[in-house]
Amino acid sequence: SFRDITARVRAEEQRDQLLLDERRARTAAEEAVHLRDDFLSIASHELRTPLTSLQLAIQSLGQRLARGMDVERVRSAVALSGRQVKRLGDLVDMLLDVSRIQAGRLELHTTPVELRALVDEVVAHLGDQIAQSGCALAVRAEQAVIGRWDPHRLEQVVTNLLTNAIKFGERQPIDIAITREDRVARLSVTDRGIGIPAEVQAQLFERFRRGVSSKHYGGLGLGLYITRTIVEAHGGRIRLSSEVGRGSTFCVELPLSTECPGDLSS
Ligand SMILES: Nc1ncnc2c1ncn2[C@@H]1O[C@H](COP(=O)(O)OP(=O)(O)OP(=O)(O)O)[C@@H](O)[C@H]1O
Ligand SMILES: [Mg+2]
Repeated sequence: SFRDITARVRAEEQRDQLLLDERRARTAAEEAVHLRDDFLSIASHELRTPLTSLQLAIQSLGQRLARGMDVERVRSAVALSGRQVKRLGDLVDMLLDVSRIQAGRLELHTTPVELRALVDEVVAHLGDQIAQSGCALAVRAEQAVIGRWDPHRLEQVVTNLLTNAIKFGERQPIDIAITREDRVARLSVTDRGIGIPAEVQAQLFERFRRGVSSKHYGGLGLGLYITRTIVEAHGGRIRLSSEVGRGSTFCVELPLSTECPGDLSS
């Protein structure tokens, strides 16, 4: 009868939909496993590199001690060791942050922060890296922009965006601009480097995602994920505009109100 056929067609449609959903879920799960496996191999490599360099520096220090000191060389080996230990520490901190975020344990400790002063501090901290990159850096802030944010977490945001601009900036100038409008503070980081294809832009804020080959550029693919999480925990958002071969601008918007949705400390 007509009713039987309608019921059968509906049942078939439901079955097709279920099959489609299942296939999508399987593809997503396979992709997640694939991303994680890639990540593990990249992460091992990223951790191994500074460790090997550190081992060599310590070995050479030992040899110099045995042969009598050459103060200059010892000094340079100690400086190199310090840099590699810092790099290892930064990588481990990133991994810890990701596990904190996954467990919903990213806490904000907010206090009044002046954005320009915070950016200047990060720039001073990255001084050597900026100098080595060959990128000229300009920081522009028309007025003081003070908000109630977590200074340590915001330093991470600026560090991640600036180290990306350096890494992908092809020795071209980088601009950081700080502005405010009504109740919003805006911080943008612009480079004139390799740029990002439109079709991968949205994905790069996800865990483990990278848009470049690990043969050419180091990194874990976690910086933007951590950055976005911190910005959103402050009730803000991050936007990206980019063109391949011309460069990228990452723009962070932070609310200037005293309320902070992610603030667990007050
Ligand atoms: N300024 C930029 N210009 C071009 N590509 C960029 C830029 N910033 C990020 N990307 C792309 O986004 C990807 C993800 O960036 P993200 O900072 O999360 O990871 P990463 O820099 O590769 O590693 P790390 O975890 O060490 O920061 C990069 O691998 C790169 O493909
Ligand atoms: Mg990065």
